[in-house]
Amino acid sequence: MKIKTIAASSLTPGEMQSYLHYAIAPRPICFASTIDKAGNVNLSPFSFFNVFSINPPICVFSPTSRARDNTSKHTLDNILEVPECVINIVNHDMVQQTYLASLDYPKGVNEFSKAGFTELPSEMVKPPRVAQSPVQLECIVNEVISLGKNGGAGNLVIAEVKLIHIDEAVLDADGKIDPHKTDLVARLGGDWYCRVTANNLFKIAKPNNAAIGIGVDALPKAIRNSNVLTGNNLGQLGNVQALPSDEEIDIYSQTDEIKQLLDATIGDSQTRDLQLHLKAKQLLDEGKVTEAWKVLLM
Ligand SMILES: Cc1cc2nc3c(=O)[nH]c(=O)nc-3n(C[C@H](O)[C@H](O)[C@H](O)COP(=O)(O)O)c2cc1C
Repeated sequence: MKIKTIAASSLTPGEMQSYLHYAIAPRPICFASTIDKAGNVNLSPFSFFNVFSINPPICVFSPTSRARDNTSKHTLDNILEVPECVINIVNHDMVQQTYLASLDYPKGVNEFSKAGFTELPSEMVKPPRVAQSPVQLECIVNEVISLGKNGGAGNLVIAEVKLIHIDEAVLDADGKIDPHKTDLVARLGGDWYCRVTANNLFKIAKPNNAAIGIGVDALPKAIRNSNVLTGNNLGQLGNVQALPSDEEIDIYSQTDEIKQLLDATIGDSQTRDLQLHLKAKQLLDEGKVTEAWKVLLM
């Protein structure tokens, strides 16, 4: 790896924005509806956004001041007048209209109408919800923290979730949100976005915290220094709590494929080790960690 190192102070705000937007990605999109004291509704997307606390349930998003003239965004002005918002989650069906809502319309323009979304009255807060959004979070704003005085400075909107509305179409049989059904989108750098699709999803086995994994540092040297196994493979191997017993290894070594591999490499330990590592890698890539361990310990 050849690393390029850049001092933050040497970058223009535009260059900084480009590096950070591309590197800190994908970012989920908060489509925030707000309202001013006079009752004018506003709707704008923000990808400086995430969940930061569960108890209390807190989301934070950040309308920056406009880089060109250091003026504040209407979303922030509204929140300072009426400290409430609805965070509407954006899926692929909504993404082009969401983009349209991000354009710099004059104050007082309702982006629900401009972008063609339907207003749904909220139950606990004044700003309406986006009917098309699969998850809508009614929030009270506890605090706004300004991060600077220059154009582009962020303003952290600390929003406490009070009511969650979920389209039942995105739930699984247990009533949990199913990532195969949400079709969420996220923002990267420049004009790039990405979409959560079934073939992009993968799982990482989460060991129960009472029985934490042995760690990569506990792997035998020959495994840690393998030319075949990748960092991901070592992570999988280090994520087990116990190794298979000699008996389990013995039984596995009698299976046809493994027996063939062992027979074909009698007297040639180098080829045998290579073949065993290749087989273990194949098993790990299929998510069969216990089997991979058995192969590696033969
Ligand atoms: C997907 C997406 C994400 C955005 N994220 C942010 C953001 O995190 N912060 C920000 O200040 N502007 C962000 N913008 C730009 C604002 O949406 C835009 O400035 C908008 O006009 C603000 O509207 P307002 O003045 O009505 O609040 C984003 C735009 C898009 C399309």
